[in-house]
Amino acid sequence: MPTELPRYRQPVLPIEERIADLLARLTLEEKIDQLHQCGVGDTNPNNLAARADEFRPTYGSFILNGAEPDLALRNALQRRCVEESRLGIPAIFGCDVIHGYRAILPIPLAQACAWDPELLRRQCALAARLARAHGVDWTFAPMVDHCVDPRWGRVAETFGESAWASSVHAVAAVRGYQGDTPGGPDSIAACLKHFAGYGASEGGRDYSFTAVPDQQLWEDHLPPFAAGVAAGALTVMSSFNDLNGVPTTAHRRLLTDVLRTRWGFDGLVVSDWNGVLQLLNQGFAADESEAAQRALLAGVDLNMADGLYRAHLPALVRAGAVPPAAIDEAVRRVLRVKFRLGLFERPYVEPSALSGAAPTPAHLALCHEAALRSAVLLKNDAATLPLRTVRRVALIGPLAEDGAALLGSWAQQGRADETPTIAAALRERLPAGTELVVAPGCTIDGAGTAGFSAALAAVAAADAVIVCAGEAATMSGENASRTSLRLPGVQEELLLRVAAAAQGKPLALVLITGRPVELERVEPVYPAILAGWQLGSAAGAALADLLLGRAAPSGRLAITWPRTSGQIPLYHHERPRARRGREGEYQDAATTPHFAFGHGLGYTTFRHGPIRLSAGEVAAAGTVTAEIEVENTGDREGRETVLWFIHDPAASRTRPLRELRNFESAVIPAGGRRIFRWEIVPARDCSFPDEDGRRILEPGEIIVGVGGQRVSLRVV
Ligand code: NOJ
Repeated sequence: MPTELPRYRQPVLPIEERIADLLARLTLEEKIDQLHQCGVGDTNPNNLAARADEFRPTYGSFILNGAEPDLALRNALQRRCVEESRLGIPAIFGCDVIHGYRAILPIPLAQACAWDPELLRRQCALAARLARAHGVDWTFAPMVDHCVDPRWGRVAETFGESAWASSVHAVAAVRGYQGDTPGGPDSIAACLKHFAGYGASEGGRDYSFTAVPDQQLWEDHLPPFAAGVAAGALTVMSSFNDLNGVPTTAHRRLLTDVLRTRWGFDGLVVSDWNGVLQLLNQGFAADESEAAQRALLAGVDLNMADGLYRAHLPALVRAGAVPPAAIDEAVRRVLRVKFRLGLFERPYVEPSALSGAAPTPAHLALCHEAALRSAVLLKNDAATLPLRTVRRVALIGPLAEDGAALLGSWAQQGRADETPTIAAALRERLPAGTELVVAPGCTIDGAGTAGFSAALAAVAAADAVIVCAGEAATMSGENASRTSLRLPGVQEELLLRVAAAAQGKPLALVLITGRPVELERVEPVYPAILAGWQLGSAAGAALADLLLGRAAPSGRLAITWPRTSGQIPLYHHERPRARRGREGEYQDAATTPHFAFGHGLGYTTFRHGPIRLSAGEVAAAGTVTAEIEVENTGDREGRETVLWFIHDPAASRTRPLRELRNFESAVIPAGGRRIFRWEIVPARDCSFPDEDGRRILEPGEIIVGVGGQRVSLRVV
């Protein structure tokens, strides 16, 4: 008689039944091992104190970061979990797949500037497919933190400063990574991080205290997480910050009351790297045992890296300080994700043509499309760009021949040597007969000016000048805070000298950065400025195409671009001041941004007709349609993005002067027209949360705006 499989091994049974069966078979130690996650192979430089942990086949999860992903190692470790542990529970392998995998896509801040959730979904789906082929089951992305302080290096990993747009992007990213049904052959689990308030790090210093009033928490920080949970994200990562005096790694109100009870999230919460141990540094636990107890009871299921759960939970349970039911609940959540991913049925990743292979032309085509769409043309006086055909182009600046900088932070498997630089891409594209002279002038952050003279000589001999300035990849991302947004090193000086030497020749600045940078002194002397962020594997090609007019820029800023660091925080959704007009403005500088949220130029021009509402009044439960006709008045096709804002001029909580509530982007042929429509649902679009997160819709006036236009709508 064939022996019947244990119930947890029977795929036909409901997942909850399989979990209950498995839980009943596990010893306390085996359960706690399921709550442990450690690194294997390489790790990244920010995961401090990484050690080659002693491997045990009963551990719940492993991190598979590093430059050289090893599918064979992953499968070998998995085989040991499945074959050498008593109950054969597969491990789940996680990795920071943040903006691509080997084929590197633009950084998230740049991706958001394309205002195209479907394009973002496709990018995340590609990253998932490539990561999956290298043994990854789970990415620690998307990061949906809200940040209005670009000194914080991780601003590069955000989807910009609008909570509403970040929510839309969170949903698109979850769908991209996880596919239609979790566990599909080309999909991986997503992880919404970092929960919550991490982007409010004081002074832009990483890992710091964050003071976030509840009203702001519900308005700006929590919506993208709520949206991602509703979209089915399988996992959430707690953050590093101390939120108003309670580190989020031990924040029961957030991790349990809000996330689980209110939003119904039933996936797993993983701590951030050493987050449980760091409760000691933060002064929230007297010893390691207390740290483990606090984190587990708050709602952290999986303990990343520090091993405190393994070290202390067994004794805590025996001493009655942690109820066995709390352990069971955490294990249940970890197992639920594994069952949902189908890891019990398919623990191994079969090598495929993608495993270990270089990016294919099709992958690079998507990198290229995304890069083209993510760059933002900040300024283009006298149609300096696209560059006309000339005899000799001088390409100046330390970013001209730097492939690594184009990839940005968290580009672990990206290869600088496979990434064409801006110089290489231009050289390939310039017409025969046009000479390209490259002179870096200086290094990114060195003090040396010895290279200036060669750069200035190249400028003097050229008919057109392109300058590539910015940051190294390591200057943004995690643990990359700066006190100021000034260009590092002597770059600003080089830029000013080059502009003076260019003497009316076509002159364009290309910025390669993970954040906005100060352009106060530079902007007045540069007729054209292109924010080229860190656009990934095809950055060089895309930027060259944009400069030469083989494609037109269409990105719009997803973040406000300040004039000086002293203006920080500066963002589009500011609330009205008590005194209007000039009162309260800075005495020593403008109060306005250098480039506003939503700003971005192209190579054509658009005329916006008036905003039309289908009715001037709308019932709370009704809908009303807003429309605007846009005409392409130029002689070349172009992409226009319409950003719809609202303002509630008198409410029971003060409301921002502009709140983004809808956006749409479309290509309009030369001379063509297109009507952009927004169906306004008051309960969704005109309401706001109170300090406890309950949404309020108040009758009264709502201003609907696009660009400089405003119309009035009455909610009755
Ligand atoms: C620390 C970072 O804060 C987090 O975003 C990342 O996912 C983990 N390390 C794992 O690498």
